Amino acid sequence: MRVRKAVIPAAGLGTRFLPATKATPKEMLPIVDTPTIQYIIKEAVDSGIEDILIITGRTKRAIEDHFDKAYELETELEKSGKTDLLKIAQDISNMANIHYVRQQEAKGLGHAIHCAKSFVGNEPFAVLLGDDIVKSDVPCLKQMIDVYDKYQASILGVQTVSPDDISKYGAVAASEVSERIHKVSGLVEKPKKEEAPSNMAILGRYIITPKIFECIEKTGKGAGGEIQLTDALRLLCDYEDMYAYDFIGRRYDVGSKMGFLEATVEYALSRDDLAGEFMQYLKKIVK
Ligand code: UTP
Repeated sequence: MRVRKAVIPAAGLGTRFLPATKATPKEMLPIVDTPTIQYIIKEAVDSGIEDILIITGRTKRAIEDHFDKAYELETELEKSGKTDLLKIAQDISNMANIHYVRQQEAKGLGHAIHCAKSFVGNEPFAVLLGDDIVKSDVPCLKQMIDVYDKYQASILGVQTVSPDDISKYGAVAASEVSERIHKVSGLVEKPKKEEAPSNMAILGRYIITPKIFECIEKTGKGAGGEIQLTDALRLLCDYEDMYAYDFIGRRYDVGSKMGFLEATVEYALSRDDLAGEFMQYLKKIVK
């Protein structure tokens, strides 16, 4: 079966980015001039996804407004002949079929994904975390869909991180079956450095079969007192084959201050309209 649907969980509290995230969704923080979540939606659309469900919560209304039509703005831009800007505004609301559901309480990523149960139905679906962006030539999700098409099983997007960082992520136990592809035999959410099964970390991209919903229903609270997707995936792995794919691309955790700064600098340096002047500025201040 083809992967047509994607779920973007964006209902987290964003405590690592307070005070900015008190009333503003962290998914709306701009990298240069574009909100984080717009990069993620573009990745999904460029990967062939047709329908997207964003899991939102209180204080997240700006996300819906951003992807809605902006009549007043469009009329003003049209009147003043700013056709380039008008196109930018219009293109955003025409990007994809976007649906919304609210997670009433931030009880964890597993709980957030369960809110997508009726949207997903009985199909495999993609998950892209609302604060993880990946810069790559071939969209990260497209790479993963290609692997899914071959194996017809759940695929976790992973990369190797330093042993000191593995405790921030879900870690996989896996053995290589072909280049960049590993068969998963176990998963641990936020393991201690000494207890991690490997340094392969799940980094914000998944393709999951619908049996996950049954597994989430059987999953109790895990790390941090939250219902963890990694714990439900561990259960899913007992029933079905699962693979980890070491995707090609640079991933930024925009929900952390350092990740946000790195993404801002690197995206600015990759923009023709900014790179020259910005590089000169950086050279001047970094001596
Ligand atoms: P994070 O742990 O990175 O997000 O969750 P957070 O909880 O918002 O961040 P901090 O740690 O407090 O700063 C990963 C993804 O899962 C979503 C988040 O929005 C983020 O995209 N999430 C997390 C939910 O949608 N609901 C939840 O209950 C928890």
